[in-house]
Amino acid sequence: MFGFRSFIPWEVSKLVAMFQAAAQTVFVSSAAASVYRSVFLVGCRRYCKKTPTKLRISEALSGAELGADVKVQGWVRSVRPQKNNVFLHVNDGSSLQSLQIVGQAKLNDPLLTFGSAVEVTGILKKSPHQKQPVELEAEQIRVVGECNPVDFPFKIKDRHSLEYTRQLPHLRCRTNAFSSLLRIRSEAAAAIHSYFKNNGFLQIHTPIITSNDCEGAGELFKVEPSGPDFSDDEEFFSVPAFLTVSGQLHLEVMSGAFSRVYTFGPTFRAENSQSRRHLAEFFMVEAEISFTESLDDLTKVMEDMFRSATEHVMARCVEDVDLFHRHVTPGHRDAVEAMLNKSFPVITYTEAIDILNRSSERFTFPTDWGCDLMTEHEKHLVKHCGNLPVFVTDYPYDLKPFYARDNQDHPRHTAAAVDLLVPGVGELCGGSLREERLNLLMARLKQAGLEDTYSWYLDLRRFGSVPHGGFGLGFERYLQCILGVDNIKDVIPFPRFSHSCML
Ligand code: 4AD
Ligand code: MG
Repeated sequence: MFGFRSFIPWEVSKLVAMFQAAAQTVFVSSAAASVYRSVFLVGCRRYCKKTPTKLRISEALSGAELGADVKVQGWVRSVRPQKNNVFLHVNDGSSLQSLQIVGQAKLNDPLLTFGSAVEVTGILKKSPHQKQPVELEAEQIRVVGECNPVDFPFKIKDRHSLEYTRQLPHLRCRTNAFSSLLRIRSEAAAAIHSYFKNNGFLQIHTPIITSNDCEGAGELFKVEPSGPDFSDDEEFFSVPAFLTVSGQLHLEVMSGAFSRVYTFGPTFRAENSQSRRHLAEFFMVEAEISFTESLDDLTKVMEDMFRSATEHVMARCVEDVDLFHRHVTPGHRDAVEAMLNKSFPVITYTEAIDILNRSSERFTFPTDWGCDLMTEHEKHLVKHCGNLPVFVTDYPYDLKPFYARDNQDHPRHTAAAVDLLVPGVGELCGGSLREERLNLLMARLKQAGLEDTYSWYLDLRRFGSVPHGGFGLGFERYLQCILGVDNIKDVIPFPRFSHSCML
């Protein structure tokens, strides 16, 4: 890498002399020779000049470049001026750890403050201290961007609460906890994509603007132009359009050609809720699988994906996960390991109702057969099943949307739907087998007056219909579950919820 740097000046002058001699022997004019000489010297200087290697902090910390002349860039996390030296910690977001910089006192600059952006060049050395493997002996420290420590809302010595940092969505990525969260989030998303890729699923970019309401449950954001080109009574798309509440129906279209498909994107619900597990904009992972005849096939994919993504995150983000499991949610590591070591129990909705009714706990909401499971019920069921994720299957038919497959059972009429409930969060996934039988689906849509709206959906049952099913997983709730984070607003970069859309 530094091959040309090993030239020393006498070698350079020898080369120049050789060049001049060569120029004269080929009878070029002295003027031309002098031009050639300048060009040659500039080239030599360029090659001989030290060009430090630019490294990410994580690369510098790996120790692979010990002894090298390097340049790092990042933001100052601490400054300690001493009599002879100045010590800095610089972080560029590539790892939780910062790189220690040691410079002579003369390199100290009043603008070197907590939060300022810097560029440092110097030699990477083995650190004499146990705490860090390497340090950078600075030759030059340049302040790229100042940061007034009095005005900067984070203070060097304070540990800021998640509630406090949440008020600063434009700056909270500079804190340790939130930068760890965002690295974990990125790795978890990559792990989910890998899981699907490794298991033969095709990724589909389902639309964000849609004219259908997948759940039939309201909670939609309407999409309209705000410019002057359209009058108030004119629809931009000629039909009412909304932000998607689920990509399921579009995935069902695609599962009719590709068998196994998934989507992973933003999803919107106009729920007037400020709860710690609801957002107006969240990310959902959805899968749809053709030739699926039982809920077991679906629960297997849900469980495998959960396990595979979590194992990946635990192995690839050791320090970042540790920060959460030690400082933010102490003890949560044991809970995650228990989830990974045991298989997830499966109970039917009817069994769930029995468990709730046998319990000595007093619930606020009713627990009669036919009632929806509320958060307090979900919590109880998870605890009852040993604080493990638990699948609840076969819900009352009337509780589920039109597409859920009819189990045709009596007197307790159920649909082949399944939810995955997890510790600390409640519902993480919702899914079902889909009604693939044309006559049953048509009857249900007719009853709801939706036959015309969903004529295209009925076509899927007319032309090569197969038993199929799928599910959706709330990605933020997944992160809450593995990290033990109480509030969903702390696991998404820019949370949107009713009465709040900062930035
Ligand atoms: O249970 P849901 O509503 O299921 C569906 O939308 C299906 N159409 C999915 C499918 O079968 N393809 O939503 C799925 C998951 C929930 O279990 C929950 O984890 C998450 O999405 N979720 C939310 N997460 C954050 N904020 C909200 N407002 C959420 N609503 C649902
Ligand atoms: Mg649901």
